[in-house]
Amino acid sequence: MEKRERLSSRIGFILMSVGCAVGLGNVWRFPYITGKYGGAAFVLIYLAFLVILGLPIMVMEFSVGRASQRSAAKSFHVLEPKGSKWHIASWLIMAGNYILMMFYTTVGGWMLIYVKKMLAGEFSDSAVNTGEVFNATLASPSAMVIGMLLVVILGTLVCSIGLQKGVERITKWMMALLFVILLVLCVRSVTLKGAGEGLSFYLVPDFSRIKEYGIGEVLYAAMGQAFFTLSLGIGAMAIFGSYVNKDRSLTGEALNICVLDTVVAFLAGLIIFPACFAFDVNPGEGPGLVFVTLPNIFQQMAGGRIWGTLFFVFMSFAALSTIIAVFQNIISFYEDLWGFGKKKAALVNGIVIAVLSIPCALGFNVWSEIRPLGIFDIQGFEDFIISNNILPIGSLIYLVFCTWKFGWGWKNFTEEADTGKGLKFPKWSRIYVSFLLPVIVLVIFVMGYIQTFGK
Ligand code: PHE
Repeated sequence: MEKRERLSSRIGFILMSVGCAVGLGNVWRFPYITGKYGGAAFVLIYLAFLVILGLPIMVMEFSVGRASQRSAAKSFHVLEPKGSKWHIASWLIMAGNYILMMFYTTVGGWMLIYVKKMLAGEFSDSAVNTGEVFNATLASPSAMVIGMLLVVILGTLVCSIGLQKGVERITKWMMALLFVILLVLCVRSVTLKGAGEGLSFYLVPDFSRIKEYGIGEVLYAAMGQAFFTLSLGIGAMAIFGSYVNKDRSLTGEALNICVLDTVVAFLAGLIIFPACFAFDVNPGEGPGLVFVTLPNIFQQMAGGRIWGTLFFVFMSFAALSTIIAVFQNIISFYEDLWGFGKKKAALVNGIVIAVLSIPCALGFNVWSEIRPLGIFDIQGFEDFIISNNILPIGSLIYLVFCTWKFGWGWKNFTEEADTGKGLKFPKWSRIYVSFLLPVIVLVIFVMGYIQTFGK
């Protein structure tokens, strides 16, 4: 068998994983879900979930990847006890990667479209209504499809160049620059006139807001967001575990990644919410939130056109680094299952993903009448399937696989996680992660369903 590709360094591994974790989930999905569920109280629950659910499951995914040296297509086959059926889960996990891409590419395309708009100075005139511009953009089938296709083509190209030269090198730079620009925007946003109200919406919990939705639905949304932002449940993190060597223990690495991911999301909120209140945009606006609030900030900044362009460029990078990571994961399925070469796998999947992404791209215009289950649009429905179903179920599978005897088991898991220098997986947490955690995920899942659909 061909020697497995490697990442060139520890920093490469961390940045790749951060590149996968940091994406639309942080800058697009986090603010709009937080806005929808009432602000600070939701943020607190979400932060708690990152620590109690997300972190341990990330360690598990990394461990499964590193121990099996395979993608999720084959990792269960390698590690499961003989005769067991864990490997069936790999089909759900593989499907999850495609379903995620089905809407991620379109939303990634919005970022590219906004680069162009910013550059062209479309928002320079303060009379421009940013909400109307966003709606008009969505209403154009050609813009939606072209943006999506560009994203798919870029992703395919980078992946076909290969892991170290393509993915790793590009991701490093994109992430560092995004971080800098977020800091600059934060300063601008919190010093806007009227920013205070936004800050208190975002940072001062008001639990009565949660009652409006029902605690079950809010917990469910927070859990989905926690898994989404950390890329858990579909082997997207596991794949990087399979590329890293055994010098470092995995708990420490996962902690670094969670912290970096959280900082980016938190900064995004610090930019968006003050701006919402300063410019009178409803924080519960929905998926357009970032696109409606941010251009307003840029209008108010000296050199706003340049800052705005840069912001959307880097944001496109963040989305692309996630897309590239998921593409890479999908490509490795084909390598593991059928021995496809990189280039061939990239090309085939580029085409498949472009086709699968069409319903979402057209769901905002020609197919806007289609309302799955009566309460979603196409994008929202695909997001619901992945964030509120496949990611929690996939995470639950990793969880039980890594802690229960009839799976890979606690001993094997902790041995793998603890190999190398750095933080060890806490032994005292055994009962908690093996029994309590699966119950928590299941209960929230069931409660969420009842409240979301029981209305
Ligand atoms: N974590 C990514 C983001 O925040 C999304 C993602 C989810 C990627 C699941 C891979 C797997 O944008």
